[in-house]
Amino acid sequence: MTFELQDIDPEVDFPALARCLFESYEDPPQKFFHVFFPIHGTGAEAREEAIIEAAERLKLWRINDPTSYWQKAVDTATERIAGGALWNIYEENPFANPQSPEVTWFPPGGSRTFVEKVLENHARPRSKAAQKPHIYLFIIFTHPNYQRRGVGQQFIDWGIKKSNEVGVDIYLDSTPYGRPLYEVNSFEYVEENVNIPVTENPDEAWKEIEEKVGPFTFWLMRRPVNGGHRGDLAQRHEPV
Ligand SMILES: CC(C)(COP(=O)(O)OP(=O)(O)OC[C@H]1O[C@@H](n2cnc3c(N)ncnc32)[C@H](O)[C@@H]1OP(=O)(O)O)[C@@H](O)C(=O)NCCC(=O)NCCS
Repeated sequence: MTFELQDIDPEVDFPALARCLFESYEDPPQKFFHVFFPIHGTGAEAREEAIIEAAERLKLWRINDPTSYWQKAVDTATERIAGGALWNIYEENPFANPQSPEVTWFPPGGSRTFVEKVLENHARPRSKAAQKPHIYLFIIFTHPNYQRRGVGQQFIDWGIKKSNEVGVDIYLDSTPYGRPLYEVNSFEYVEENVNIPVTENPDEAWKEIEEKVGPFTFWLMRRPVNGGHRGDLAQRHEPV
């Protein structure tokens, strides 16, 4: 099997990318995914609606954010999308004028407040460590049918090349499943981030989403510009 990295066409690709994204995070299921891409309700129809909403929102984010850069990996034999990656290429410190994203994908109330707090917590380690131009790997996924065939590595190779060309470090927040890929590519651990939103007066909607998502952990990782190559021993650091 061979895969080709291609720029996406924002007018065409988001429905297929969103579906591939869902299938990648559903197998095995990652509870935090609901925070970013919820299925409101149950059953196949609710899931289809969620994928449509996700595709529309990803397109909006792409159009409204000039730092964002999407790629897809295409199976050259079938032309199917095997995976995707969303990078932010920050030529300036993105935390100079911090702006919280508007959480439109949950209704006003406890669930929306919960998600706003999750996003704040999620960004906190990087907002301390990366007050400078850098490249951020926001989303990366390989469809379960195509995993362990080098697709993720192709995305990372692209990011490393870009980082060395531009002269800035790469940062990312890793899921447990992403860590092996980043470790073999000489990413360093910066901080463990256990995300537990808190509020004094949780309403029913807050309690419901808290129950569904639970506390979850990401790891902020950094690959210094001109860092080691794949196969070098990953430098492991204690969380700071
Ligand atoms: C993380 C993810 C993108 C990796 O994609 P992938 O296309 O399977 O990765 P690759 O095949 O390019 O792997 C490259 C190397 O990374 C390491 N690696 C990747 N996945 C691994 C795993 N599950 N276990 C051990 N090592 C792994 C291996 O060294 C691998 O090289 P090898 O197969 O020659 O041994 C994929 O597992 C995924 O989409 N997971 C679900 C979504 C997710 O959690 N994304 C990460 C967000 S931070």
